[in-house]
Amino acid sequence: MPTIIAIDGPSASGKGTIARKLAAHFGFAHLDTGLLYRAVGLTVLRSGGDSSDAVLAEKAALALDPVKATSLADDADLRSDEASVAASKVAVVPAVRAALLKFQQDFCAAPPESKRGAVLDGRDIGTIIAPKAQVKIFVTASPEARADRRFKELQARSQRTTYADVLADMKERDARDATRALAPTKPAPDAVILDTTTLNAEQAFAEAVRIAEEKIAR
Ligand code: DC
Repeated sequence: MPTIIAIDGPSASGKGTIARKLAAHFGFAHLDTGLLYRAVGLTVLRSGGDSSDAVLAEKAALALDPVKATSLADDADLRSDEASVAASKVAVVPAVRAALLKFQQDFCAAPPESKRGAVLDGRDIGTIIAPKAQVKIFVTASPEARADRRFKELQARSQRTTYADVLADMKERDARDATRALAPTKPAPDAVILDTTTLNAEQAFAEAVRIAEEKIAR
């Protein structure tokens, strides 16, 4: 059985960077599951539709090529704020979540390139996708710290916005992700909480390695 590391948490908590680095550290495969929802959201937008339209969202999810979508980690359109808002809207649709479930569970059962394990990051990895994961870490940080990181990222990309707008968007998305009926963002009962509010990227990663090594050694 492959070793599974489940990394969940809200946006800009640092979970993506932690997951990628953990995968490299342990020689495991990595799956950024947010890319699946982003690709579905973007498909709906590009078809001229509204990402809150459940029928269009389900159609896009059923037609999605998940291998392709998750290979586009650096795609600017998929990483855009537009895609992230659309992702958060399609993610409330139960039929969308159902359509994306098998790909994620197959990834855990047989990680690509016959790797011994997999690191998945998202919102429902420790609760729904891989409830038996050996390591579960819920990465979080205050909304202000996350908005500050996101604002600096957008500034570096010369995107015009204000900190207040970024914080308001973040809180709106957090509320939608945390209060939806199916698979809301919440820590699994057996997850370790990693609060990165006062940690830099290196410190957060070091802490995640410590947590993971302790669980895997057991
Ligand atoms: O992690 P991210 O910012 O790329 O996620 C984008 C959106 O997708 C997020 O608002 C919620 C949704 N999502 C989800 O519902 N379940 C996942 N496992 C991953 C992402």
